[in-house]
Amino acid sequence: MNDTWTIGFVGTGVMAETMIAGLCDNGFSPGRITASHRREERCVALRAYGISACVDNREAALADVVVLAVKPQTLAGVLAELRGQLRPEALVLSIVAGARVRAIAEALGHTRVVRAMPNLPCRIRQGMTVWHGKDLAEADGARVRTVLSSMGAEIEVDDEGHVDRATAVSGTGPAIVAHFVKAFLEAAAYIGEPRGVARETVLATLSGTVELLRQSDAHVAELIDEVTSPGGTTSRALQVLKNGRFSAVLTESVDAAYQRTVELGDQLETKLKSS
Ligand SMILES: NC(=O)c1ccc[n+]([C@@H]2O[C@H](COP(=O)([O-])OP(=O)(O)OC[C@H]3O[C@@H](n4cnc5c(N)ncnc54)[C@H](OP(=O)(O)O)[C@@H]3O)[C@@H](O)[C@H]2O)c1
Repeated sequence: MNDTWTIGFVGTGVMAETMIAGLCDNGFSPGRITASHRREERCVALRAYGISACVDNREAALADVVVLAVKPQTLAGVLAELRGQLRPEALVLSIVAGARVRAIAEALGHTRVVRAMPNLPCRIRQGMTVWHGKDLAEADGARVRTVLSSMGAEIEVDDEGHVDRATAVSGTGPAIVAHFVKAFLEAAAYIGEPRGVARETVLATLSGTVELLRQSDAHVAELIDEVTSPGGTTSRALQVLKNGRFSAVLTESVDAAYQRTVELGDQLETKLKSS
């Protein structure tokens, strides 16, 4: 990469380290990365990437792109600490769940803020990040894409509300899918499928079906119809899912995550206004 812009990570835990590893693997020079962590032993470990690491958040905040990767409950204190410390042209990229662009911008006294929601598969570069930034310059958008695409796919949305929705769908999604896999494995064990076989069949069925859906132009319902013969095994299985309100329960679960995201955003806004 020929670019020269720098990136700083404030709160370098699991997700920030995932971003750092992805950037380094993609050829982003470690010399252009600074990460802050309040514990020196963590800084020592981070320096193994060849990056700079410091205990002072304000040092990491001197970069061209400043990633906020602390937990929501820590955010207010960190924003207060960084207020007035950023360079005017710096771009802030927050991955803090629920934290809204306007609230971050007001607390920092800095308008150039992007909000993103990555997910757990980012760890293996197969993540999904949904992000939003208002009135971004072309070059800023390109920087955001460079950072986020190092962890998998990214989608820019024009309405910040869709980042709240993505928090419930793709952010919470890995836990929902893993819960489904666990239940599927229990079901396989219930009918006597050996554990090793069940693990392979369940995971291969999941990834194969996902790939099939991805490669098909047909509506999901058409594919279900294709494998459902009248009076057959699939028809029996689907009837039980309907009786158990499977779709309704899933909708309630995703909606609960969405409502909690909005609630977190409201609580953060109140906290930031009063601090
Ligand atoms: N993990 C995910 O899959 C995921 C997905 C999407 C979004 N996110 C968002 O990403 C953010 C970080 O999540 P995470 O999973 O990476 O959490 P994490 O591993 O706990 O990282 C947060 C880091 O911030 C540090 N920290 C605490 N107080 C600080 C302060 N005052 N100044 C600087 N650093 C401080 C923590 O240090 P200590 O370890 O010493 O407490 C920790 O290393 C969260 O807001 C979360 O909503 C995470």
